[in-house]
Parts: sequence; structure tokens; C-alpha cells
Amino acid sequence: MTANLNQLKITKPDDWHLHIRDAEIMKAVLPATYRWASRAIIMPNLVPPIVTGADALSYAGRIKNSIESGAEFEPLLTLYLTQNTKAEDVVESYQQGIIKAVKLYPAGATTNSQNGVADIKKVYPVLAAMSEASIPLLIHGEATDPQIDIFDREAVFIEQILEPLRRELPDLRIVMEHITTKQAASYVLNESRNLGATITPHHLVLNRNVMLAGGIRPHYYCLPILKRESHRLALIDAAIKGDKRFFLGTDSAPHLDGAKIDVCGCAGVFNATFAVEILAQLFDNLGALNNLEGFVSLHGADFYKLPYNKEKLTLFKSNTALEMPKTLQTEVGNITLFDPLMPVYWQILE
Ligand code: DOR
Ligand code: ZN
Repeated sequence: MTANLNQLKITKPDDWHLHIRDAEIMKAVLPATYRWASRAIIMPNLVPPIVTGADALSYAGRIKNSIESGAEFEPLLTLYLTQNTKAEDVVESYQQGIIKAVKLYPAGATTNSQNGVADIKKVYPVLAAMSEASIPLLIHGEATDPQIDIFDREAVFIEQILEPLRRELPDLRIVMEHITTKQAASYVLNESRNLGATITPHHLVLNRNVMLAGGIRPHYYCLPILKRESHRLALIDAAIKGDKRFFLGTDSAPHLDGAKIDVCGCAGVFNATFAVEILAQLFDNLGALNNLEGFVSLHGADFYKLPYNKEKLTLFKSNTALEMPKTLQTEVGNITLFDPLMPVYWQILE
């Protein structure tokens, strides 16, 4: 990293948690990511989900066909774990380089999770094979019991599912995806091996008031849901200190406006477009610009045992705040861009 007060040159970042969907939406949203990221872990919760190595291979082909010529971007595919997932398929797909990880959605926890895992014990044999083969498990960590308050679901998941799993399979490499609470941050901080966590830009810059106070704002509704300010501060503390266990996963999750603004609107924030600029501004505001590169470009690659990107990304601090467009138009409808509700002066030098 080289830096002066107004310019920062860092290793090109990666996004370790990204939804790009498929077809027209994928074509429309992908450039927002490869403008600043070299690689991204691609979430498998399509309809139908990416459940086999063959599905992943075919999805990878569709992604590559959607990338404009001249653009460089490497999608890192994942499999959606179901109670029917075959350990041999997972291990073979990983060893052939088709996938980089497997995603665990507790059944019913979030968008398109109905094919996920209802009983974690049923997939222990697959998880044991993954542990043996050193394949990362990416976890949507929320309890699904409808009795549990939505704001407590992450903390309860850690106690009831994650901790027993870690004790059963201590060698399994796990990423707690999009952590949102101080319980999750301290859980990761207390574990010394095989556990990392992604954090999203939206959970770092906003708390639940923006979604619920003074009117309901569906574009800030995501899962895990935004939490209270004390949790946001715990996430910031984890992200900005240079701790290698924490890295960027935007969880950028585009939905058409019609699906967001509905009597039962979808969860997801489309934040890929200005994710890095927003984080640069946040780290700058907190006097932590020195640790931006670790969070967005290095720690995730280390966790996944991948080389750092060779390309660089230069950011500069402009005198005027970035004007962010409000929507992305696609052939099938509009998608609203994430508004961080704060001025962002950092920009990418194109
Ligand atoms: O807000 C979210 N949106 N959380 C998820 O876990 C899934 C995602 C989506 O796919 O829309
Ligand atoms: Zn996600």
C-alpha cells in the first residue's frame, strides 16, 4: 500500500460474498463489481439453487459469458448445501477447481433458503469430508425457530448450532458470513483457528433506525437484519483494527424494486457499486485508512489460501462528495442502489 493524505494505492480488492443472480439481472449488476474487484465468492441461492458441481460449472460459464470483453474478473463458485448433497461431489468439485466453498443456509433463514439444511446433524458426514479436504464452509448464521426474535437469531445460532459444530469438527474451516452482532464479532475474536467472518458495508455504516424510524425503508431491509448501534460499533471495531479474521463480503443482493416494495418485500441491499468508496470513507473517518487494504484486499485471500491480486486500485479523495445514482436500470426493471446516508469523498481513479 502507498498512501498520502488524499491518495491511496492498494492491492485490487475481492468481494468474499456476492449475489449476482442470473440472466438479465446478472448482466446488469456484474460490472458494478468488476470495476473494483478482481474476484468474488458467488452465492448459490438461485432458483433453482446451485447444488452440484455440474450446476456450478454451468453457472460459471454463464457468468463468464456475461463479462464484457476486456474486463478481468474471476468468479469463485460455491455449492448450496442441502440434506441430499453428496460428499464425493463436493470434494471432487473442489479438487477440480470448480468451487471454492460450500454455503450453509439453515432452511427458512433467508431468500431462497427453503432447500437448505433443516437438521444440521444430517449433513455432518458431508461437513466431515469437507474438513478432511480443507473445503471452507460459509454459514448464514441465523436460527430459524420462529419463536426466536429476529434480532436475536444470530446470537442464538452461535450458541445452538455453531459452537457445537466447531467442537465436533474443529478442523473445518468456517466463514461466518455477514456478521451483524457483538456476539458474533467476539465469538470470532475468541477463536484462534479455522474461523473468519465477512462484514458488509451496510452493517458497518448503518443501524436499524434508518430502516424503521420515521417511516419504513424497505431498501435497507436485509438478512441478517440491521441491528442496534452498539452492534454496529462492535463490527467497526472488528473491521478496522487490521485483524486478519475479518474481511469484506458485500452481500450485495439485488432485487427488482417491485420485489422490494411490496406487502412482503424481499431482503437484500444492492451495494456493489460504491462498496469500496464507502468503506474508504468510513475507514478514513475513523482514522483507519492504513487497515483498509487488509480488510478489502488481503485477509480474505489469506483465509481462502489464494494469492493476492497483482493489479492495484488507486483511490483519491475528492473535494466534492460522490454523486451516487439512485437506480440501475435493467431489461427487466429497476434496482435501487444502496445509499449510505453519508457523504463519500473517496473515489476510484479510473
Ligand atoms: O438480505 C439478504 N439477501 N440476505 C440473504 O441472506 C440473502 C440475500 C438475497 O439473496 O437476496
Ligand atoms: Zn448473502
